[in-house]
Formats: sequence, structure tokens, C-alpha cells
Amino acid sequence: MRRTRIAEILAEEKIGAHYTVMGWVRTRRDSKGGFSFIEVNDGSSLSGVQVIADQSLGNYDSDVLKLQTGCSIMVVGTLAASPGKGQKVELKAEALEVLGWADPEIYPLQKKRHSYEFLRTIAHLRPRTNTFGAVARVRNAMAHAIHTFFQERGFIYLHTPIITGSDCEGAGEMFKVTTFDLNLAPEKDGEVDFTKDFFGGPANLTVSGQLEAEIYALSMGDVYTFGPTFRAENSNTSRHLAEFWMVEPEMAFCDLEGDVELAVQFLKYIFASVLDSCKEDMVFFNRFIDHSVIKTLEDLISQDFKVLTYTEGVEILKKAGQGFEYPVEWGSDLQSEHERYLCEKVFEGPVVLIDYPKEIKAFYMKMSQDGRTVKAMDVLVPKIGEIIGGSQREDDHDILYNRIKESGLNPKDYWWYLELRKFGSVPHSGFGLGFERLIQFVTGLSNIRDVIPFPRAPGNLSF
Ligand code: 4AD
Ligand code: MG
Repeated sequence: MRRTRIAEILAEEKIGAHYTVMGWVRTRRDSKGGFSFIEVNDGSSLSGVQVIADQSLGNYDSDVLKLQTGCSIMVVGTLAASPGKGQKVELKAEALEVLGWADPEIYPLQKKRHSYEFLRTIAHLRPRTNTFGAVARVRNAMAHAIHTFFQERGFIYLHTPIITGSDCEGAGEMFKVTTFDLNLAPEKDGEVDFTKDFFGGPANLTVSGQLEAEIYALSMGDVYTFGPTFRAENSNTSRHLAEFWMVEPEMAFCDLEGDVELAVQFLKYIFASVLDSCKEDMVFFNRFIDHSVIKTLEDLISQDFKVLTYTEGVEILKKAGQGFEYPVEWGSDLQSEHERYLCEKVFEGPVVLIDYPKEIKAFYMKMSQDGRTVKAMDVLVPKIGEIIGGSQREDDHDILYNRIKESGLNPKDYWWYLELRKFGSVPHSGFGLGFERLIQFVTGLSNIRDVIPFPRAPGNLSF
């Protein structure tokens, strides 16, 4: 079966060219003159192609007049200039074959606009809608741009493990991996004996590839990971998933300042790239989802990102006189309402907050001279809040050892991580970008479950 993608046909506009198109019918309209307009979409672009099928086709009455939304067809035809409004070209069918029928009585996607909640229950069909098709193309283009950004800068793409024995964030929000029958798991001293399990010890799905990325940064220089990560936090919000994709660069010979610089360059690159490569889809999001997305991205590409310390941020929030749901004090973790206030009301743009109190950040972050703060950074954006979390890493063995203990973790579990600080330790830094949060920001979609093909969230694993 040979076909030409509709995106290619529309881009080239070769009047008189002969094509075979395969796709799904969006709509069919019949004209009195004995012909029909069939809008066909094949997923290659937001726009479909308009097919003109007339009664000279042998199967006009038997097939064409029965076509409904969702049917799949093959059309062989010639491209002509379209006299009608809304499209420049149309395909005059010389043959049309129905590949698969879709009974309109039971096909769930009809012409009307469906709610996102409903579409989430039909994740096997929602990519056939304009919105989810556009999300899939934008997500793909952003993944491509991420690789290009790092590859152009000499970073090595590293595959870190999905199944791991360590807890990177030290927060214990992990899914266990086991082959035990939970009712029959062997016990020792009243606890499950994981030494008898598949890996000979407890295993989890990774929450971050950072610790392993540090290993490779400390031999290859600049590396990055881009893979799925898993968090068992019971956060039923529009910004949290139990399975999400994270991009994690890790750089040797790099301090916090270099880390912030890379994060800002990285975001600007992705924004510019998606505006360039997904014009039609971005115009669609701007028109139907959020009227400000294109301007917001364009502004960010040319703007400086405001960088300020956590302490400065807290001062501003305390003076704001806002009735926040969670009050702010130095030492308290910022909530998304605070992050968004700084971005949306105070700075009207993205903000990079640095130098957080050590108590609210992970054990691996580099301690500052003041003994109270660590060299952390969070990149915050309007409407979403945190999209990037990163830091300079603690490279002093003894300080790290104490921080691991202080955090209630067992230094034995981190023996190899500590050894990296014994043998040729160097200053190094990195960050993690939540890929879905970035897609939310770019598309304007307000729920994170609509920017990943198959969302996993508490109580939600449709298939
Ligand atoms: O701030 P986090 O927890 O940082 C880390 O995991 C570091 N190890 C990264 C590093 O330095 N290499 O997570 C990083 C980003 C967050 O800023 C957020 O965008 C996203 O991951 N994220 C989530 N996205 C969707 N659902 C969740 N449950 C998320 N948790 C974090
Ligand atoms: Mg974070």
C-alpha cells in the first residue's frame, strides 16, 4: 500500500499531481449536483484534504453516500485548485475504497465538541480529534528539539535505569517492583524479606535518573537523560502524574550559575523551535485553547528571565498582602499559588528562584557558605509554577555524608554515590524538566492528563 501523507500534499500544492490518500473521514457533505465533499484527515497535519467524489464513481451510491465520521478510506485522485472557501486545493477522486466502516450509532466521536473528561475515557480514539492530534504532533516536535538542543552542544544521551534500588529524591514516593505474590511474600522479623525477591533486594521504579546521570557526567562531561519517571505521590492535581517524562542534563565542571544559564537557553530553544516547526498547530492552540500562548512564547524568547533568591521571593510574598491558602514563612516550601503569584503578578514572566533553605530541598544539593541554604534553582512560569528543578551537586564527601544522615537516609545505600566524591570529585550541576508541564505551558492545556497519550494518576489507569 503506497500513499502520500496529507501534510506533504498540502505543503507542495502540486496542481494536477496524482495521489493516493488514506485516512479517516471527518465529515461528508452531499451536493445536489450528484457529488460529495469528504473531509479526510490522516494525522499528518491539523488540516485534512477535501475530496470531491462524484456519481461517476461505480460505488458512489453503495459506498460514498454511506460514509460517516470515523470511516477509513483510500482515495486515488488528482489535485485541483479549489474554488470553495476554506481550502486552496482539493482531491478529485478517481477511485475510492472503504477500508473500514464506523457505525454512527455507536462511534463515540461525533462532529460536536466533546469535553476533555469524556475524551479521557476514550484514550484509544481521542487522538483522532483536532486537539489531541495537535498535542501529539507538538509533543513529538518538542522531543525532537530537546535531542537536537543537547546533541548540537555535545551532550551524550544516556539511558538511566527504570528499575532502581535507590531513591533519588529521598522522599520515598516510589512504586515497588516485585515478583512476589503479595499474599505469600516471605517474611523475616515481621517484615517482607526482599532478599528472596527477584533482584535480591528491594526495587523501585525510578523517580529520577539524576544519580546515575552524575556517574556519567563524572566521566563523560556533559550528559542528558530523557525518559519516563514514576512518583507514587497521591497528588490529584492538574500538574501531577504518576508516570511522567523528565529531561535531565548533568554537567561536570559547572556551577549553579552555569546551570541556570543552560536552563534558560534550553527553554528558549524549545519555544523557538516549536513555533517554527508546528505553526499550524500553534495557531490552533492560540485560537481555541489559550489566546495568549503564541505571544507568551515569543516574549519569552526575547526576554531575560528574572533570577532572584528564595529569601527575596519570600520577602515579596510576605509583603504582598495576599490571602494565600498556605501562609509563607522563610523555611516553608513554596506552593504553586506562591510561585504563580511571583510569575503572574510581580514579574509578569518566568522567574528563576535560587538558594533555597536546605531543609526543604534534597540531600544532594550543594551547601552554601551560609550553612542555611543550598545551591538550588527552580524555574517557575505563569499558569503552571515549577517546570524545572535543579541544583549544583554537593561534591564534598564529608558534607554529603552528613547531609544523607541528616535527611534520615542510610549512607550505605548511597555508597557508590559517595565514592564519586572520593575519586576525582569535581563541581557539577544539573536539572530536571517535567516534559508534560512544558507541553502544558506551550499548548495552554490546563490539565496535564491531556498532554500525555495515556495518563497515569491516582485511581486512573484506564488502559
Ligand atoms: O523537582 P524535581 O523533583 O527534581 C528532580 O527529580 C531532580 N532529580 C532533577 C534533577 O536535578 N536532575 O522534578 C523535576 C521536574 C519538576 O520541576 C516538574 O516539572 C516535574 O519534574 N515533576 C512532575 N511532573 C509531572 N508529575 C509529577 N508528579 C511531577 N513531579 C515532578
Ligand atoms: Mg522540584
